[in-house]
Amino acid sequence: MTEINAVTRYDLEGDVGVITLNSPPVNALSAGVRDGLANGMAAALADAGAKAVVIVCEGRTFIAGADITEFGGAQKGASLFDVQNAIENSPKPVIAAIHGTALGGGLEVALTCHYRVAVPSARCGLPEVNLGLLPGAGGTQRLPRIVGPEKAMEMMTAGTHVPAKECLAMGLVDELVEEGKLREGAVAFAHKVAAEGRPLKKVRESNEKVEAARGHPEIFANFRKANARRFRGFLAPEYNIQCVEAAVNLPFEEGLAVERKLFGELISGAQSAAQRYAFFAERQAAKIPDVPDDTAVIPVNKVGVIGGGTMGGGIAMNFMNAGIPVTMVEVKQDALDRGIATIRRNYERSRTAVPAETEARMGRLTGALDLSALADCDLVIEAVFERMDIKKEVFAKLDAICKPGAILATNTSGLNIDEIASVTKRPEAVIGLHFFSPANVMKLLEIVRADHTSKEVINTCMKLARKIGKIAVLVGVCPGFVGNRILGARQREANKLIMEGAMPWDVDRVLYDFGFPMGPFAMSDLAGLDIGWVKERSKGETIRDVLCEMDRRGQKTGAGWYDYDENRNAKPSPVTEKILHDFIVRSGANPRKISDEEILERCIYPMVNEGAKILEEKKAIRPSDIDVVWENGYGWPVYRGGPMWYGDHVGLPKVLAKMQEFQAQMGDAFTPAPLLEKLVADGKSFADLK
Ligand code: CAA
Repeated sequence: MTEINAVTRYDLEGDVGVITLNSPPVNALSAGVRDGLANGMAAALADAGAKAVVIVCEGRTFIAGADITEFGGAQKGASLFDVQNAIENSPKPVIAAIHGTALGGGLEVALTCHYRVAVPSARCGLPEVNLGLLPGAGGTQRLPRIVGPEKAMEMMTAGTHVPAKECLAMGLVDELVEEGKLREGAVAFAHKVAAEGRPLKKVRESNEKVEAARGHPEIFANFRKANARRFRGFLAPEYNIQCVEAAVNLPFEEGLAVERKLFGELISGAQSAAQRYAFFAERQAAKIPDVPDDTAVIPVNKVGVIGGGTMGGGIAMNFMNAGIPVTMVEVKQDALDRGIATIRRNYERSRTAVPAETEARMGRLTGALDLSALADCDLVIEAVFERMDIKKEVFAKLDAICKPGAILATNTSGLNIDEIASVTKRPEAVIGLHFFSPANVMKLLEIVRADHTSKEVINTCMKLARKIGKIAVLVGVCPGFVGNRILGARQREANKLIMEGAMPWDVDRVLYDFGFPMGPFAMSDLAGLDIGWVKERSKGETIRDVLCEMDRRGQKTGAGWYDYDENRNAKPSPVTEKILHDFIVRSGANPRKISDEEILERCIYPMVNEGAKILEEKKAIRPSDIDVVWENGYGWPVYRGGPMWYGDHVGLPKVLAKMQEFQAQMGDAFTPAPLLEKLVADGKSFADLK
């Protein structure tokens, strides 16, 4: 055994030289790993006993990509291109041995090897697009040469991690070896390759698939068209496509030059900076300063869900998917039957539905009509009507029924959880688990810590969230918590803007163009204007009252803020316009022309300001947690980093100046947060609060 450096060693096993990397957590291509590979290759080539070379990793994964933390800094150590050239031009066959994930630069290294073997559980992908990037180490030119341009574009623009079996079918992997026996399997494969004198396959020289696509520009036009919605606003998907076009139309080296140029543009741009920030922000959110990772975890082997409506059903599915049995309680048999039938239908309609799998998941669900059925659950989540008196009644009953140690959670989207906990004798067991609808799809989970919630309960819920595939953010108790509280700030402004002369479709368009999937008025039409509206109490005092009274209750009635045709296509409505006009005139004002810039600033800056208040009150641990909430629960475009990141990048002095200007014109709703004022006075930004 030769120690090459702190993260690399070299061994001769039979007639095969083995370079082993061990750089936790994910063997990213840091300077140390690149140096290790360069010197490991040199050692293998100098070793007369080595007829072939294997590159293998220890720990949880093969190389998972470039070391993202190094981006933006001065390059140290061997260059990745030199390492790849040494591998590709090696006179001895080089074999990549893949387990875990070979991602980004990791797969690009493997693509310069002459052969690739993997265990069945391994996955390969070029997920740079998720960081606002493209594979910058030849991946855009090599991948299409193996899997063809269409498949390459799909993989690169979706950033998917493709299972080893599929990789084998596509030719991306040459052979699967037995699970748990990667090293031995790879060495045996390498020995065979050398003994049989198999060719040193260089992917760069394999031109058949790219040549077949030459002269067929429609491949790219069709792909762009089919994915236009998904790519809207993002630069990286288009740049990835352009690289594949270059792979098809240009010689390898010229294609590489295109890749290098476009990679340079992306990595120095604002979108990738925001997306890389989002990557680390998500991981940071899992870290709670006063709840260390080794805090005890309560085993959760059975979950109770109270409420079988859309929310309760969606929540139940998360646990059923993760193999955890669920008891769902409804008050009436027909409601329970409906809830269970909806869950089944959701499974059957899912794109990836496999009948046996649907049955297995449904087999984990038990229905019940009485809360006493929850006595042996480890976690109970209440998803009943959003009213304090009802919640308190349910929690008092749960306290009497549930076993000691059980976690009692509420899915409230903004009620005071301390008040709910106060009716129990175990406030340490009470926590908020705020799912977002549809709860089986949306990634975000706001975990709400009440005054007495124990650290074990918090840690259990954070870990459980990961198990059910959610991105969890720990927040504190305040009206609306983090997400809805900031949404409220935006909604207030949107409502005021239309009372000053902006049309709902103007506000929606500006926010859509900013990158949100939908504006607040289109959203209101989709959800139904009559949520929370009571006909008997309606006196035509608000625009919503008037619209609902006219039976303009949103898409479901064919009209709301907008008019809808039979295919639910929205059109600006002259009726709404007239109602708005009359309201404004009646209030003694004159409608005025409001610029897109003002609409954007008045909707977004109060969100930044509200975020500052939330931080001041310590209802969020760090600014990036707020950004994670908004990106994963409310459609904030990830390439704009989240409200706090956005505030920093617009410049807090500008945000503050605008808030002051609006406050002077329009009153206290725009009062700047003291934290915002302090940061500006100190010349600091939210990023400095980490
Ligand atoms: N660079 C630096 N750190 C990384 C990293 C990377 N490429 N990938 C993961 N990490 C870190 C994470 O920040 C995390 O750190 P903390 O424990 O301190 O929070 C740790 O490794 C573990 O990561 P996860 O919590 O995400 O672990 P996981 O097991 O759930 O997932 C993974 C592992 C699938 C590899 C996932 O981390 C991931 O998707 N990583 C990013 C992969 C990627 O995008 N690669 C392309 C990089 S860009 C590139 O390669 C450009 C190029 O062309 C040269």
